[in-house]
Amino acid sequence: MSTIQQILDEASKELSGLTNAEGIEAFRIRFLGKKGKIGELMARIPSLAPAERRQFGADVNKLKSELEIQLAEKKLAISEAPRNPGPVLDMTLPAIAPHAGRLHPLRQTIDEIMAIFSRMGFESVEGPEIETEFHNFTALNIPLQHASRDAFDTFYTTQGRLLRSQTSTVQIRIMQKRKPPLRMIAPGRVYRPDTVDASHSFMFHQIEGLMVDDKVSFSDLKGILHHTLRELFGKDVKVRFRPHFFPFTEPSVEVDLLWGKNRWLEILGAGMVHPKVFEAVGYDPAEVQGFAFGMGVERLAMLRYGIPDIRYFYENDRRFLRQF
Ligand code: DAH
Repeated sequence: MSTIQQILDEASKELSGLTNAEGIEAFRIRFLGKKGKIGELMARIPSLAPAERRQFGADVNKLKSELEIQLAEKKLAISEAPRNPGPVLDMTLPAIAPHAGRLHPLRQTIDEIMAIFSRMGFESVEGPEIETEFHNFTALNIPLQHASRDAFDTFYTTQGRLLRSQTSTVQIRIMQKRKPPLRMIAPGRVYRPDTVDASHSFMFHQIEGLMVDDKVSFSDLKGILHHTLRELFGKDVKVRFRPHFFPFTEPSVEVDLLWGKNRWLEILGAGMVHPKVFEAVGYDPAEVQGFAFGMGVERLAMLRYGIPDIRYFYENDRRFLRQF
């Protein structure tokens, strides 16, 4: 009797620790198999005194069916358990914010300006950064002896090429390819061998604009620039058009923004396209008029966002970039 109880205890204990099908099968063989513990008990019956056989046989059968039941229950429990529950997922925890990228503040500024001009019917175009002297200077009526052509002011490469020092090159390329009327803006990089400091970089961005039609006036230019600056800096922005000289426009202006109480900051150059420029691209200056302008993107972005040093734009420091 005590053996039977011992086997039952042992079996129950062992069964409770089982977690997989292999364990179950080993258990079945060990206890219920032909040469298992139950079998051993059965084999003992013939050697018992006849008076004990009946009771012992009944007890062993009870034990056997008890183990079979427990085994079947365990099998079921294991098959119902999730196979690989993995780490427990607590849906009530705060979410982990994804690290989303964002547009660089210069790109954002360019995109915004492009959107403003797009609403006024200006198409945005691009030109190459490696240019010819013709597109960067000659066609823009910049004479051979002009200081900006000097190697101290322009990066020359080989074969008479250079890194464009202004996006005005794109005016020439577009006019060579198309006939008026034209309304375009051209954002892009320009290069100048300037010593890098808080307000200078050897590479920066400009946005060029050009409108050509049979009748385009200086007041169109003023209206469009004033509108653009109001969109960018708010409708109370104070703008000043100050006479200036550029070889490729006549008359020419520089445009200043009033900053704070009494600081005027120059943000772009503009003017009416010079007849010599029209001639260089095969337009008849007697038949077309146009205005052009070029603005510095870094300058505008620094003013809008209050960025004190141009170098922040290029250092790729995420602590800076994250703020925009
Ligand atoms: N290209 C000039 C510069 O880099 C800016 C400029 C002035 C562009 C007058 C123009 C313009 O189209 O009409 O300083």
